[in-house]
Amino acid sequence: MGILDKHKVLETNATLLLVASFAVVTVGGIVEIAPLFYLENTIEKVEGMRPYSPLELAGRDIYIREGCYVCHSQMIRPFRDEVERYGHYSLAAESMYDHPFQWGSKRTGPDLARVGGRYSNDWHVQHLTEPRDVVPESIMPSYAFLGETDLDAANITGRLVANRRVGVPYSDEMIAAAEEDLRSQADPDADTSGVEERYPKAVLGDFDGDPSRLTEMDALVAYLQMLGTLVDFSTYEPGTASR
Ligand code: HEC
Repeated sequence: MGILDKHKVLETNATLLLVASFAVVTVGGIVEIAPLFYLENTIEKVEGMRPYSPLELAGRDIYIREGCYVCHSQMIRPFRDEVERYGHYSLAAESMYDHPFQWGSKRTGPDLARVGGRYSNDWHVQHLTEPRDVVPESIMPSYAFLGETDLDAANITGRLVANRRVGVPYSDEMIAAAEEDLRSQADPDADTSGVEERYPKAVLGDFDGDPSRLTEMDALVAYLQMLGTLVDFSTYEPGTASR
């Protein structure tokens, strides 16, 4: 029996073809997936990455609730045009504490992976309140209500605990101080040494222009202002980072 005849047996017997196809796919699948279980780490650890501060985490939840990801990606691809426009391409480690990640592929608006520090707090507040005040041709919706809505801080401890459960390294100390850290990050009069120590590079101060209130606007802007700022790319070298 020649090889073609043998193949004909397979091709004319549906059950046999199904079983053989399944065997091929199984072997292929194992070859692809098995090594992942033996790699110590599929994400290269990068210096500077830390869990979100409670205020940033609350802002991130608002970002997700409002569906900002519908129009904005958070992943700069390693192409020259993207890197020139947005900055260093995104590293896997930069979204290692994101549950769920916000990479996306839809860019009705620009990528936001490195928007942190690009504009002032006032610019963000004005832009979120009425995008057309600062970018006349903008089609972004207005989110003015965020500045009028008090931030619901009651469940922040639970949110940190939930993130820890899925692998984010929040310490007991961070969880115990969650509510205090959430408030002091946005309070210009507060003692912020605790937040600064637990969350290096956290942007401090009042964000929404009204220090007397802690609003959803405060949280969202705190989140936007730290996006993409944790890794110091002036010292980052691919592949040599601490493991
Ligand atoms: C319907 C699509 C749409 C939605 C939803 C949307 N945006 Fe935008 N966004 C845009 C567009 C278009 C621009 C560019 C014009 C402008 O700056 O307003 C933009 C610009 C921005 C910028 C400025 C980025 C830069 O680099 O200049 C930020 C920051 C931003 N959006 C944040 C948000 C946040 C936060 C949300 C959710 C609360 C959101 N956007 C929801 C469309 C959208």
